[in-house]
Amino acid sequence: MMDGREIVETLEVLREDGADRDRLMREAVRRIEGSEDHFDWVGIYLLEDDELVLHNYIGRPTDHVRIPVGRGVCGTAVEEGRDINVPDVSRADEYLACSTETASELVVLIRDSEIHGQIDLDSDDPDAFSERDQTELRRVADWLAGLF
Ligand code: SME
Repeated sequence: MMDGREIVETLEVLREDGADRDRLMREAVRRIEGSEDHFDWVGIYLLEDDELVLHNYIGRPTDHVRIPVGRGVCGTAVEEGRDINVPDVSRADEYLACSTETASELVVLIRDSEIHGQIDLDSDDPDAFSERDQTELRRVADWLAGLF
């Protein structure tokens, strides 16, 4: 079961030991991915001007290393300033396929007064992401926002 507080505590210790932001974002992805079997692809995109740029990920390789704001589920989340849970990607018009196996997707923004990026998760299971997943990921995303 993913425990956002536990992941944040681990990241906090690494930061105290001198880990920089890039390392902390890689560790966050690694720990999130390892926490649930239904997290099949986990990555962080950072917002650079009008584009999301893939910072690091674990899972199948994707063509979508740069996504314009407003495109895809990822770019729509930024444009609309909200987290997006897509239970069935085949029904989302804006969806950009990373893999044909993917069935559902969750985007959680990394933000404070501004949007810095997002944690993006794909699952091969339909309707894979629960309210609890979202709550736990929000804890990690909020902590990551403090690094900017
Ligand atoms: N599905 C995303 C693109 C990113 S890949 O899933 C890694 C989207 O629709 O924006």
